[in-house]
Amino acid sequence: MPEYKKQVETAVDYIRARTYFEPQIAIILGTGLGGIAKGIAKEREITYAEIPYFPTSTAPSHQGKLILGKLGGKRVIAFQGRVHYYEGYSLKEVTFPVRVAALLGARYLIISNASGGLNPLFKETDLMAIVDHINLMGDNPLRGKNIDEWGVRFPEMVEPYDQRLIELLEKTALEEKIKLQKGVYVAVAGPSLETAAETRFLRLIGADAVGMSTVPEVIAAVHQRLKVAAISVITNVNLPDHYQPAPIEKVIATARQAEEKLTRLIIKFLERLEVE
Ligand code: HPA
Repeated sequence: MPEYKKQVETAVDYIRARTYFEPQIAIILGTGLGGIAKGIAKEREITYAEIPYFPTSTAPSHQGKLILGKLGGKRVIAFQGRVHYYEGYSLKEVTFPVRVAALLGARYLIISNASGGLNPLFKETDLMAIVDHINLMGDNPLRGKNIDEWGVRFPEMVEPYDQRLIELLEKTALEEKIKLQKGVYVAVAGPSLETAAETRFLRLIGADAVGMSTVPEVIAAVHQRLKVAAISVITNVNLPDHYQPAPIEKVIATARQAEEKLTRLIIKFLERLEVE
């Protein structure tokens, strides 16, 4: 196996040999949220399985392909289906798509995910702009030798979620009459869901939503100085004193219910975004 950097570069070469398209913005689509890709004026579609070294997902409701095309007037690369740490992939593999997107020229990353609400004021199908995160995965995608060409050894995490992008999301949501919560996302390794005691703990340490993704991708993106915006769909609300099961079927069904407004929010956001 060649080293990681070489693997990413080989994947990028494979894509470049198939299209001249240069994405400005990368979009990672979360559980039950792949439908946004339907709105893309497609230039090229490539299945993950055919791209050298590209990790392929085993998770439910995740398709495995990347789509290059225009959305909201911007050139995007959308990843329909992502791999998760709980599937057994390393965080280097989890963040492989982010590295590919950055090397293809993307300077922005937009992430969607399904997550469990911890803030008791949240409702199912609410959208939440992530304003900060807590990494409780017990691992970090930057662990190991630093690839200096991509970024620094100790990337700052002062503003992982770009303030200008958060404000644009809020403005867009207001104009589109979409309720948009703001909050802190905590990433856990999974795949077991949280106990009631863990739910209470996560709320106490300052999290508004919990999930099993996103944070590794954001860390890799910040490492590569991409500007990041991330939106959680709240698919269940976890209250430690009234704790209820959150089966995956329900998580996917609730994410799908929120898909129309999330799609609209992202498209209108892209239309308004002034790419630097
Ligand atoms: N916990 C962790 N991950 C999740 C949840 C949850 O309750 N809902 C959706 N993803």
